[in-house]
Amino acid sequence: TKSMPVIAVDGPAAAGKGTLAKSLAEAFSLPYLDTGLLYRAVGRRMLDAGLDPATASGEELAMALSPDDLKRTDLRTPDATRAASLVARDQAVRQALVHIQRSFAAERGGVLDGRDIGTVIFPDADVKLYITASPRTRAERRYTQTGGSETGPDRETDISKVETALIERDKADATRAAAPLRMADDAVKIETDTLTAEQVLTEAIRIVKSVLDAKAF
Ligand code: CDP
Ligand code: CDP
Repeated sequence: TKSMPVIAVDGPAAAGKGTLAKSLAEAFSLPYLDTGLLYRAVGRRMLDAGLDPATASGEELAMALSPDDLKRTDLRTPDATRAASLVARDQAVRQALVHIQRSFAAERGGVLDGRDIGTVIFPDADVKLYITASPRTRAERRYTQTGGSETGPDRETDISKVETALIERDKADATRAAAPLRMADDAVKIETDTLTAEQVLTEAIRIVKSVLDAKAF
């Protein structure tokens, strides 16, 4: 019997990967995993332990990660976000998280979003999507998503700050030696600058359906 499909959703920060991956998982009745949470949880545990994520090894904490660590409510703070990107450079940390990600989709398939799902974690994924948008668009999305106001004197300055941090993190993610952010050769790219989340979902469902139909799932 054919195993259940694996769908990889990769791309830079705040492109809308999670929003899309979650909806895709619902649409196709597949389990969903936000792999960024794994790196955020390791980064958070390092900060808790007073370890500097830029220099100390997070390998042991990564190996000891529990489901409860992923349920923490402090994984999307700016310090946890920075820590995640720093621990994500460590090949030993990445290696410790490979098994969690592969076994997640082993039985029932899944939709996973991250940076290296289509390149490293599931190079044979059934469908690979690469979701992107300009830094400005992504900064506006993250600003709004985290409660930034739609009007007011500080809006422009605040969005610029978010944009600067996103660009810096994308650069670190794309230039690191271990599993750098890049589009897989066989991924389908969706440029989302002028699309609503609903429009991205419609386009992605069309792509997934055509691939799965061709593979006779
Ligand atoms: O939601 P956002 O795109 O801002 O970040 P995230 O997906 O939660 O990922 C946080 C950080 O974890 C990224 O900046 C990467 O450094 C790292 N990450 C990774 O290296 N590989 C993944 N598969 C997922 C996240
Ligand atoms: O996972 P990633 O960091 O790539 O992005 P996200 O957490 O899904 O955040 C994207 C934010 O932009 C959410 O608030 C979405 O509602 C919004 N958005 C989107 O996801 N896609 C669009 N085409 C437009 C807006």
